[in-house]
Amino acid sequence: MIVLHQQQIEGFREKIFDFYRTNRRSFPWRETTDRYAVMVSEIMLQQTQADRVAEKFRVWMERFPDTETLALSSLRDVLALWSGLGYNSRGQRLQLSARLIMERFDGIVPSTPDQLKSLPGIGEYTSRSIPVFADNLDVAAVDTNIRRIIMHEFTLPEDTRKAAIQVAAEQLLPHGRSREWHNALMDYGSLALTSRRSGIRPISRQSKFQGSKRWYRGRLIRELVQREGIFLEEIEEKYRSCPWDMGEIIADLVREGLVEEQGGTMLKIREK
Ligand code: ADE
Repeated sequence: MIVLHQQQIEGFREKIFDFYRTNRRSFPWRETTDRYAVMVSEIMLQQTQADRVAEKFRVWMERFPDTETLALSSLRDVLALWSGLGYNSRGQRLQLSARLIMERFDGIVPSTPDQLKSLPGIGEYTSRSIPVFADNLDVAAVDTNIRRIIMHEFTLPEDTRKAAIQVAAEQLLPHGRSREWHNALMDYGSLALTSRRSGIRPISRQSKFQGSKRWYRGRLIRELVQREGIFLEEIEEKYRSCPWDMGEIIADLVREGLVEEQGGTMLKIREK
């Protein structure tokens, strides 16, 4: 187990907060402590760059200002707005979470990591980051950036266990200042200690996107959002040059509940 000395802890905190004092970035989700808004931003920020999320977040909050509005909207409207953020299933799962929150939690986004983890699309990191940013909860939320900062700062080997980094992160957390601390770490990771500069690779490296299976999935969804429905024949014709099996892509999307077939001839975004 990694045990950090008090001096190391204090020195590191000071460095991060010093940096933050002069380099803090401003984002719309930093202006709110509404747990629903924080949940939306944290889901959007999974795998999408903060600058790209900022504008989408504003539009989203105007269109779906609360859990109930999102729960009652159509999947089509949700996906239309999600467009450009990538990974459409994240948008779908966010809406599914809103519906479950209406059913199970009286419409109130839950406040504990355990309850949050029971919702689709919310894993270890996000179940902690939501109460950190919304409620200033004293827990350590470790995403790929924060992991990189800790590994670099304390020269931990690349194969250090997740649980060990979590323990280190808990020791470093200044109690009572969790929200500020995590914002500061985010900014330090993004501005001062980029992946390139630290030489530490993220756990999952993104492979080439254009032409990938996911790219074709996204293209089909985008087209379906813009149209009432598309005949399967037309899809076959249009995607003839696609190197992936479109039948398989469609079957996946149906199974995941993003699209549905109508009369065995037409494909559309799932109603309801
Ligand atoms: N990435 C994940 N959460 C973030 C946040 N709150 N600010 C900036 N980048 C983030």
